[in-house]
Amino acid sequence: MADRNAFADVAEELKGRPALARAETIPSAWFTEPRFHQLDSEAIFARTWQGVGHEGRLAELGSWFVADVAGDPVVVVRDRSGELRAFYNVCRHRGGPLATADGCGRVLQCEYHGWTYQLDGTLRGVPHWNLVELFDREDYGLVPIQVQSWEGQIFVNLDPGAVPLDQVLRGISERISPVRPGQMQNYRRVEYDVRANWKVYVENFLEGYHVPIVHPELMTLYDFRSYKTETREWYSLQTSELTNEENIYERQGGGEAWYYCVFPNYMLNILPGRLQTNLVVPVDHQNCRVVFEYFYDDIESEAARRKIDEDIAFADRVQDEDIDICEHVQRGLQSRGYDRGRFSVKFESGVYHFQNLVREAYGRWLQGEESPITPPEPLDPRNDD
Ligand code: FES
Ligand SMILES: [Fe+2]
Repeated sequence: MADRNAFADVAEELKGRPALARAETIPSAWFTEPRFHQLDSEAIFARTWQGVGHEGRLAELGSWFVADVAGDPVVVVRDRSGELRAFYNVCRHRGGPLATADGCGRVLQCEYHGWTYQLDGTLRGVPHWNLVELFDREDYGLVPIQVQSWEGQIFVNLDPGAVPLDQVLRGISERISPVRPGQMQNYRRVEYDVRANWKVYVENFLEGYHVPIVHPELMTLYDFRSYKTETREWYSLQTSELTNEENIYERQGGGEAWYYCVFPNYMLNILPGRLQTNLVVPVDHQNCRVVFEYFYDDIESEAARRKIDEDIAFADRVQDEDIDICEHVQRGLQSRGYDRGRFSVKFESGVYHFQNLVREAYGRWLQGEESPITPPEPLDPRNDD
């Protein structure tokens, strides 16, 4: 548990909330000091919906996969009746793992001394236990975790009192209709190690301000004049019209690109016929891992495969550019020459929205509040709170 007294400077920082047009960015220490890694884990990652994988990984009844959420081992299960469940991947005997890899079976068996649990978490088999007294199996079931899915994507939340996932994602399905991410096929997963705090990477995603400078090739795909950012309670959305028919993403279904960032660390990049999800996982205060997964309407036909190869090669180039700039920014934030900056009102309302949610989450944790994080009311960009 992080020590609240070690964050008196943060409490001071949280007083008042200036409007976007006047606000300063959060202090660089929040991106660079080791104590913020633990604060992020407790105040943010243990209290928000975390993407853990897509439903295709649990296609079979009785299958499971393992994940790490806010430093906790988790196992996500499709039980024998088809219900989705998640548990701490921790045996109630002495803390052994139920699974260290993805698998499928009738029970989960601890890899230490072999206690077995039904896939609904009930303790079933306890070897060599007849001399133990005052023991009721019912008291030693696996500890459940909230799990919900949206459009084929599975999320868990370690906070039992968290707001429901559909409330967090409210409005996305309607907005992107007729695009149905849940009907697309998973094609590829790739991980990138980035030498930057996770917030640096997320903030870079949240604005198109850098696109003309950092991604000249990407610039050619969009009609930048149409670029817009909208913010909702838990997410922001950047949209842009795609340019002409030469575009590798072609004009179909409206010819728009949607970039959602769901607080704190989950992105949906939606283009005609294609979804790319990004999950940003903190490793320590100055490193994160970014997981990209690609989904397409069609992964079978020759023509579709050619377009997919082109899409992935292009996304890789853009990602290299983003990683490179994020790693430079991390060094900049660590410099004696920088503490905090300002926001572009036109392009950086998504970054401001994200930073306000971070501030809110830190504030709740500092006050010892058990209630879930509440998204701050949107402000007029020019009027302070
Ligand atoms: S820790 Fe699981 S059976 Fe001992
Ligand atoms: Fe970028």
